[in-house]
Amino acid sequence: MIIMNRNTCPLKPLSNEQIIKVVQNTDYNQYPDQERQRFINIYAKAYDLNPSEIEVANGSDEWIQKAVMTLGQNGVMAFNPDFVMYKIYTEQVLPELLTVDCEPDFSFDFAKAVQAIQERKPSLFMISNPHNPTGVMFKTEELQLLADTMAEVDGYLVLDECYIDFAVDYERPQGQNIVFLRTLSKLYGMAGLRIGLAIAQGETFTKINSINHPYTLNSLSLNLASELFSNKEKLAEFKNYQFESKKQLTKALAQVNDLITIKPSLANYIFTFGDLAVDLAEFLISKGFLPRTYDTPILKNAARYSIIKLDDYPALNQAIMEWKQKY
Ligand SMILES: Cc1ncc(COP(=O)(O)O)c(C=O)c1O
Repeated sequence: MIIMNRNTCPLKPLSNEQIIKVVQNTDYNQYPDQERQRFINIYAKAYDLNPSEIEVANGSDEWIQKAVMTLGQNGVMAFNPDFVMYKIYTEQVLPELLTVDCEPDFSFDFAKAVQAIQERKPSLFMISNPHNPTGVMFKTEELQLLADTMAEVDGYLVLDECYIDFAVDYERPQGQNIVFLRTLSKLYGMAGLRIGLAIAQGETFTKINSINHPYTLNSLSLNLASELFSNKEKLAEFKNYQFESKKQLTKALAQVNDLITIKPSLANYIFTFGDLAVDLAEFLISKGFLPRTYDTPILKNAARYSIIKLDDYPALNQAIMEWKQKY
């Protein structure tokens, strides 16, 4: 099966030579120490961030869990749908995730979210931007409104920027109560190495780090991540491959935009919905492509497709056209 259900990168970013060099030079007989600071400094420089406001963990997943545990005591709220792990981690420690449903066209009403926050007073609101699963990028004003409303109830906002590297840079909302999450699992092609970052200021930073293990990430992952940023040209090529793949995916699905509804996406995946969306997904499964379908009620008519290798598009295009001919 060609994987299209995980929003990961179809290629690996490092050559065998680079990997061997990193493994040979990693002091894995010692606890990781300067490896962590080195990677944080490299990442901070690449994104013009303050290294003292960054910490690493095993994927942004671990940060979601830590945010729930350290900031979510009085309730956690999110839009429905959003990234499934918000619900799973919340329901490990609280009775339920509080949710604000999307509109029938999978748009989001921020006034409704504000009202829900004022009524329920959660201590944490989590949102992905670009949004998973729709690929939509929210406006700065909308995110600022969420951050400010959470501040009014003495709460925090987690802004999960897992897919931000596929989108346009944007003016970020401001506030001491915001935690930004980043990852090397998507555009950087390192999902298996589990490298997630949290960025926050002052007391918020202290709080989300209050339950850390002494060594937050292993030395090999950290050194492989540092190696990735050492060759700018190679990295740019790797990114461009994925941007091209996204273009091809957009074109492939546009062939059937008269039969299914397609959301314009700023991530490495495309969200489709409508009466025939799942039918197309199931047809493609029978042809060896594995999109994401859902069993949650709100997403029952939806399917999401992530980027694949460029070489796989001719077969995908052919399969989509074969499906189209049925209608
Ligand atoms: C919105 C969002 N946040 C976080 C994650 C988890 O990423 P990581 O691999 O860094 O744990 C995902 C993974 O699919 C995601 O879609």
